[in-house]
Formats: sequence, C-alpha cells, structure tokens
Amino acid sequence: MSNFFFFALFFFEHDIIILKVDDLMIEFRKVSKAYKNNMILKDISFNIEKGKFTVLIGESGCGKTTLLKMINKLIVPTKGDIFIDGKDIKEIDDIKLRRSMGYVIQQTGLFPHMTVRENITIIPKILKVDENKINKDSLEMMNMIGLDESLLDRYPSELSGGQGQRIGIARAFITNPNIILMDEPFSALDPMSRVALQDELLKLQEKLHKTIVFVTHDMDEAIKLADKIAIFDNGELVQYDVPENILKHPANDFVKNFVGKKRIWTSPKYIKVEDIMIDKPVTCFPNYTVFYCLNKMKMMKVDSLMVVDDKKNFLGVLYAESVTDKEAMNKEASEYMLKDIPTVKKGDSISTLAKLVTESRLSNIPVLDEENHLCGLITRSSLIMALSQQFLEEE
Ligand SMILES: Nc1ncnc2c1ncn2[C@@H]1O[C@H](COP(=O)(O)OP(=O)(O)O)[C@@H](O)[C@H]1O
Ligand SMILES: [Mg+2]
Repeated sequence: MSNFFFFALFFFEHDIIILKVDDLMIEFRKVSKAYKNNMILKDISFNIEKGKFTVLIGESGCGKTTLLKMINKLIVPTKGDIFIDGKDIKEIDDIKLRRSMGYVIQQTGLFPHMTVRENITIIPKILKVDENKINKDSLEMMNMIGLDESLLDRYPSELSGGQGQRIGIARAFITNPNIILMDEPFSALDPMSRVALQDELLKLQEKLHKTIVFVTHDMDEAIKLADKIAIFDNGELVQYDVPENILKHPANDFVKNFVGKKRIWTSPKYIKVEDIMIDKPVTCFPNYTVFYCLNKMKMMKVDSLMVVDDKKNFLGVLYAESVTDKEAMNKEASEYMLKDIPTVKKGDSISTLAKLVTESRLSNIPVLDEENHLCGLITRSSLIMALSQQFLEEE
C-alpha cells in the first residue's frame, strides 16, 4: 500500500492539473489577503513539497508572516484555498489543525511562569500522551537540540536567547508533527548562536525529513537552509525555485538585487565545474601521429591535447612536454599520452575541484559528463579567471 501512488485530478478553470498527492503537502491555490482596501497578498499559488525545507523570503512587511499564519488558520484568506494533503483546511477543525503542526516564532512564545519541562510538554499532556513517554521524549528532545537535561527545570527568563529558541524548537518537534512552521526563529539571535542553531536545525532535518516552512528576510540563511526558496515582493510570489537556480537565474531585477551579485561566490557549493570550464577543449584521436598533434597544439596555442575515441570517451592527455625524442614524431599519440589522470564531473562543485587541483598539482583537469564523455576542461587560467570574476563583479 505504501508505494501505491495516488493521483488527484483537479479541474482548475479550464485547465486540468494532475498532481501527485504523494509529493504534495501544502497547496496554496489563488490565495489573496486584504486588510480593508490594502491588498497584502495577491493571488498566490504554489505547492510546498512534503519532507522539504521551504523558505519564504522577502522584505519586511511583504506578507511572509501572514502567509505562514494562513497555514495554521491563525489568519483566514480573503480569497482562495489552502489544501494540506489534498484536504481543504477550511474543513479541518482549527485546534486539531494547529496541534498537528509545530510552530516556532521569534519571541520563543514560551510561557514565562512555566519551567522548560512544562513548556515543552504542554501539548503532549493535552493530547494525553502517556507520562513515561512524555518524560522519555523530553529527554530525547533536549539531547536532540543539544541542551543539557538540567535546563528542564529552569524558567525561560534563566535561558540565553539561543537556549530559548532551542526550547522553542523542542516544543515544536516533541509531538512529532509532519509540518513545522517557523517564523524568523533566529532573527533576534547574535550571529554565533544563529549559525549554531541553523546547523542544529539542518542536522535535525537530515534525520527527520519534516515539511518545514521557514520565514526569514536573510538571504544567506535562506540559501543555507532551503531545499526551495519562495521570494515575495509587493504581495506577489516572484520566484519559487531551488537555491542554485535563484542564484544563477534570478527571475527579475528585484530578485537580482535581493540576492546580490556577490552571493553566488559566497556559496561555492552552488558554483559547478560546468560554470567555469572551457567547453570545447582541443582533442585528438589516439591513432594520430605525435607530429600531427604537436602541430595542432601550435596552431591552437595550447600545451596539451585531450585524447578521445570516436565516442568522446576520455583516454588520456598528450602533453607537448612529454615528447622529448625525435623518433616520437611518427608514433601514435596513444603511446605518449598520460593515462589515469584525475577527472571531475561537470556537476562537481568548485570546492571539490579546488581540492583536486591542489592535491594533484596538475594544471589541466578534464571534465566528464554523466556518460563519462569528455565535455570540458579546467585549466589553471580558467580557475583564476573564475575567481577573479568575483572581484570584478563586486565593483
Ligand atoms: N491585522 C492587520 N491589519 C492591517 N494590516 C495588517 C495586519 N496584519 C498585518 N498587516 C499588514 O500586512 C503587511 C504584511 O504583514 P506581515 O505578513 O507581518 O509581513 P512580514 O512578515 O513579511 O514582515 C504589513 O504591511 C502589515 O502592516
Ligand atoms: Mg513577519
């Protein structure tokens, strides 16, 4: 049954949209929100995927909190519908809906007159979870968020900002909900605690695969945490994509400015070998004579040729400097080429590449595609060009 795929068929105006319910968790369909005549959100339609970390980002006042609060019905749309697992949330009881989701806000929302233990066990107690299980879960939560168990009996005022937010996270996760809503949970923290909590949250997510909807106005935070980023401007959803595409292909000038030109260079995991490689390396076949190959190098002003077969399989590199004897001229390139040369894949990150260049001390690294065909070449100068771009673009 578990691998049984459901397909839902929606008739949407004149279009027929087929959605695979398995991948779908929260769906916004033409959602708008107005306060009096002030349109805050305009006709928002998008799907938040199950088990993914989705970040909602935009400038202050653009409607992020409003959108998030619509998911747990703290705010009701003026128009449009929201579905969770294919069910219209209008038909789900408010309290039931809210208890099925974790909710973390900037000001922690911890009750000041209750201990940490009482704060994080409130909902499980209301849900009448067995006392032993509650105790066990609280200890496990403290462990999971990296806090000492002794803090369980403290009051919120006795915690640091970072500890308070960790407790907020523990309270959201303790009932094991599928959906966690987080509204700028780290915005008020100092940079060190902030980074530590981001790392902690990523580790949790790697283990638990919750559907997390996270609001922030900080692009660095979004890029670090998100599987997908939804960018809002002026009440509209202007781009919804994976961080890499947002960095590389901003949808409009607003996104471009919001992302900032430098940003891609501070996120090396999103710069790929294919972004900086030479895509038409000079090649030769293995049965070409060394004489012919040397001439080709001279003409093309290169110091080596990539040796490939007629299917573009990479065989080796012929360096001009490996030809030292006259007799070589009439021999085949295959005799003089260097084999077993380290290669990279075009999808590798430049961090991987930089490591390889440093370790191998080679000046040329062939680039292979998914089928292991030669598709490019990294030279020292292409690397340097790419890195210097960073400083050129800053101006
Ligand atoms: N209850 C309300 N009545 C009138 N306007 C509101 C109300 N709540 C929010 N707003 C306005 O809606 C806009 C979006 O608010 P919000 O969702 O909190 O933005 P964000 O979280 O992106 O900073 C803001 O301009 C805000 O002033
Ligand atoms: Mg807000």
